[in-house]
Amino acid sequence: MHIPKKVAELLKSHGRPLREVYFDLENSGFVPEEVVEAMIPYFNKRGYGHPSITHRVGWEALEVVYEAKELIAKTLNIRNPENIVFTHSGTEANNLAILGFLIKNRSRGKDKKVVVSAIEHLSVIFPARFAAELFGYKVVLVPVDREGFVDPELLKSFIDRDTVLVSIQVANHEIGTIQRIKELSDVVKSANPEAVFHTDAADAYAWTPIDVEKAGVDMLTISGHKVHGPRGVGALYVREGIELEPPLRGQLSVEKLWPGVENVPLIAGLKKAVEIMFSNFDHRVAYVKNLRDKLEKGILDRVPEVLVNGPLGGMRVANNVNMSFLRVEGEALTVALSLHGVYVSSGSACSSRVLEPSHVLLAIGRKHEEAHGSILFKLCHYHKEDDVKYALEVVPKAVEMLRKITAWR
Ligand SMILES: Cc1ncc(COP(=O)(O)O)c(C=O)c1O
Repeated sequence: MHIPKKVAELLKSHGRPLREVYFDLENSGFVPEEVVEAMIPYFNKRGYGHPSITHRVGWEALEVVYEAKELIAKTLNIRNPENIVFTHSGTEANNLAILGFLIKNRSRGKDKKVVVSAIEHLSVIFPARFAAELFGYKVVLVPVDREGFVDPELLKSFIDRDTVLVSIQVANHEIGTIQRIKELSDVVKSANPEAVFHTDAADAYAWTPIDVEKAGVDMLTISGHKVHGPRGVGALYVREGIELEPPLRGQLSVEKLWPGVENVPLIAGLKKAVEIMFSNFDHRVAYVKNLRDKLEKGILDRVPEVLVNGPLGGMRVANNVNMSFLRVEGEALTVALSLHGVYVSSGSACSSRVLEPSHVLLAIGRKHEEAHGSILFKLCHYHKEDDVKYALEVVPKAVEMLRKITAWR
């Protein structure tokens, strides 16, 4: 897809719909007022100093960075908050985990294996492939079943003495599959106790309980905007004793693995967002699941020829609805829905920008045209029943209109 040259014109011709419902929380989200308010003082009232400089305003910055680490550590049962590294995104946290580990171990790169699931986020798959090009590692993608699950027995068959790193996400960002992560990490450790197990928890954090000790994970990624924090902040947990080499070089600050001054206002915002998400965890998840089920059932009742992507049982993140509308082009549907103020995405943003079918949907066995007709809705506790009702008015009409004009029969 080209970057539109006349975005202003596009926006003008689109206009502002009278009613708007934002379901594109996969790609970016609105930041609630309380989180914005928690950030603002750190731009110019307090803690706007560099957190590793020894003066009052620097210490205020350091204080909130540490408070945020302590809070996140508590939510994941991380024993030492110092084992959390703030980065400037989830993408950076994944790159730090994968590249940082593989650069550190580069002298034994040749013939060593990195095992990742076929449905990982591209910020896991691409750095693994990059390290393979640079240092000779072999990257193996483990297939998943039709619901996106990694079979422990199959995973076991991929792990041998040469396996140095395994990365399998807790929950998938497109189809919501929640892996049995403890079973998977156990299988890896029993086949090779030396192998390091990383999990990208960006889409699972604050949606399904995670305990790094019980789950047996060595490194774990989170992303700010996935929990209604700001974009541009992420974090990586690194278990004591695991050595990484920073892939970026520059002035180190509080973080010894990620150079550059910490983004203190965004870290303060992430802290607030985490506080909110964990303050009523079970109630919030149940509320969103109820809305999600209504949206999903409502669409299935009203629109023919629809496939649900992802697991149908409880092992799917409560906020996720991913559907393929047969004989409809997903990008066209996102535009048609946008004109009515319903904002969704087609596949993942990374996939849609290059107009290739999502690798996640292909990995679960969807055909190209089914993957191209996919739409991802992500819900949250800021949505109301009325938002779902509105989507249920708009989606069937938009699909029907597109099917009338499609060349597909
Ligand atoms: C599973 C997963 N990992 C990593 C990322 C990257 O996070 P960020 O957008 O903060 O770079 C995303 C973002 O969508 C994601 O869904």
